[in-house]
This record gives sequence, structure tokens and C-alpha cells, in this order.
Amino acid sequence: MAVTYELIKTCKQTGARLGKIHTPHGEIETPIFMPVGTLATVKTMSPEELKKMEAQIILSNTYHLYLRPGHEIVKRAGGLHSFMNWDRPILTDSGGFQVFSLSNLRRIEEEGVHFRNHLNGSKLFISPEIATEIQNALGADIIMAFDECAPYPADREYVKQSLERTTRWAERCLEAHTRKKDQALFGIIQGGMYPDLRKQSVDEITSLDFPGYAIGGLSVGEPKDLMNEMLEATTPFLPAQKPRYLMGVGSPDALLDGVIRGVDMFDCVLPSRIARNGTTMTSSGRLVVRNAKFAEDFGPLDPKCDCYTCTNYSRAYIRHLIKCDETFGFRLTTYHNLYFLLKLMENIRDAIRQDSLLDFRNQFFEEYGLNKP
Ligand code: GUN
Ligand code: ZN
Repeated sequence: MAVTYELIKTCKQTGARLGKIHTPHGEIETPIFMPVGTLATVKTMSPEELKKMEAQIILSNTYHLYLRPGHEIVKRAGGLHSFMNWDRPILTDSGGFQVFSLSNLRRIEEEGVHFRNHLNGSKLFISPEIATEIQNALGADIIMAFDECAPYPADREYVKQSLERTTRWAERCLEAHTRKKDQALFGIIQGGMYPDLRKQSVDEITSLDFPGYAIGGLSVGEPKDLMNEMLEATTPFLPAQKPRYLMGVGSPDALLDGVIRGVDMFDCVLPSRIARNGTTMTSSGRLVVRNAKFAEDFGPLDPKCDCYTCTNYSRAYIRHLIKCDETFGFRLTTYHNLYFLLKLMENIRDAIRQDSLLDFRNQFFEEYGLNKP
């Protein structure tokens, strides 16, 4: 079965999109947030817990699984779904971004990227063909083209060369893709912080007719307004009948800003990473439960949250566990943070249904302690 996107409606207040993605492992309601499971596990969460919080799709990483345990082993296990016992949809990122962010001593050539294994220093090489072959072996429902994410800041000439190479690599990924019937290969738009280069990338990548498009090269340290400007230089030119995925974005304000600018999918390590550090997202803003002031606070993390953590455990208890490096503490904060973002996306979908997303955004921002535009 092919992966397809269905645009259900747009919000009259904002133009935000409500949709559905059909995959061989079930449907995904969009806009959606995808928890990150880099090493074939969403750190500290079991698949049962992810289902209980109603995660509809998770993301995993080609780069990491290529290094450990190796895609051949995952393939022999019957693919990533069966290897990790997750029967809902999975998306894998291509490794492009991770090669740039994790490995040192990389060298980009037209053929691909030479780099050193960040675990043992051995020499490795990934090309568009290799990234696609690995993703075909892993067997995720949605796979990504091998791209180059330019750093920020980067000069215009560099970004232009890089986006043009990303287009040539995208063509090679399409050519190498052997599972078009059950895996959707998404193209990735680049173009740095230059609106005209974003437009050039959109024109080139959409001319290749992918079943979905990702927006890469954002959330790389640029100010929030600049990211929104780049989205405005990108999403209006993408085909309405295909899904759009903003890569690496997961703060509540950026999710709302993205949805309002026509984005359907997001992923980010932020909620799970800060959770393991004792920081939580609540309806009244970030709460660092690790802080001494919560030592005798017997209320829940977020009084407005009905998740497993908030129903059963107090700030004082969670603080104690995290201070003592107890695994259960990390599980409780991770569960809550992921639940919080998944619930936010559900509320966003409801607001789109009711044509009231702008009102919802303004109310959410006010409560979360953020300024209106
Ligand atoms: N994750 C966050 N940003 C990017 C990007 O630009 N490219 C890829 N492949 N993954 C990302
Ligand atoms: Zn909660």
C-alpha cells in the first residue's frame, strides 16, 4: 500500500491545514508531532507507553542505526517495526543532518560525504544511494532524501551551491529507492536564510514529484522571526495536496507558528531531552522540577494535565527521583512532556476544525507566558 495524504480542510482564521496520512501501518492525523526514537527507542519509553499517550508516528535515525546495530541486522529482524515492536508508522531521517552535527572530520564531495564514526573514529562514507539503501532495509513508512543542511550563519554562495547539490542528491535518492510501493520518500527543501534561495529549492525539489516535502535547514540557531520568515518564503509554494514536514522543531510556540504557516509534521528531541534534565513543559510555561523550591510541593507537574505522571505523582517526588538520578524520574518527566506536546497538537487539530486556531494560539501564548506577535 502506498503512502498518501488527504487534505481535509483549512482553518478560516489562519489557513492551517487539517489532514490525514495513510500508511501501511495505519493513519496519522495532521498536524502531528513525532517523538524521536534515535536508536530505535524513544529514550525511557516503551511502545506500550507511547501508545497510551497516543503517539501516532515516531522518528528514528539512519545514521545511528547504520553505526549500531547496522541496517543488515535490523533487516534480518524483519525491519525496524518488528525489531523494536512498534506497529504504528515510523519515519527515518536520512543521516544527512546527523553526519553534519555529530561527526567531525567530514568531507563533502559530489558523490557523498566522508566522515568518521563518532563512536570509534573509523572512516565511513554515505552517499544518496547508500542512505536510501539503508532506509529501504530499515523499512520505515516515510523515508527522507539525503541532503546537506547548511550551517547558520552561512554565506549566500555556499548556501546556493549546497542547495543545488541537495537537488542533485534528491534525484539520485529517487532513482535508488526500491520500495516506492510501501515507503514514501520525501524531498527536503534547503536554502538557508535566503528567501530567494528557498524559492529556488522549492522549485527544483517540487519538480521531482516526491509524495511529501520536508523543510530542512531551520531551527539551526537563527532567531525565531527569521525561521518564520523562511517558512513564509517556502510553504506558499509547496503543492497543497502533499504533506509538509518541518524538521527539528518542537517548542510549543514554534509548533503553533509552523502550523499557522501551513506545516503538517514536526519532530524534535527537545521534549524528551529536557525531561531527562528535569525540565518540563506545562500549560503555564516551562517548569524546572529539579529546583529546590519544589522540594515540598505535593501538587502535580501541571494541574491542567491528565497524563499518567500528573494523575499519580507529585513535583516533590519527581524532583527527589531526578536529584537521585533514578530512572523512574526520567520516565515520569519524559511521559509528561511527550503527552503535553501530543495533546497540544490534538488541541490544534480541534481548533482548525472549528476555524479558531488564531484564538487558540493567542490564549495558549498568554498562558504559556509568551508574547503575542
Ligand atoms: N533535521 C533537522 N534539520 C534537518 C535537515 O536540514 N535535514 C535533515 N535531513 N534532517 C534534519
Ligand atoms: Zn502531565
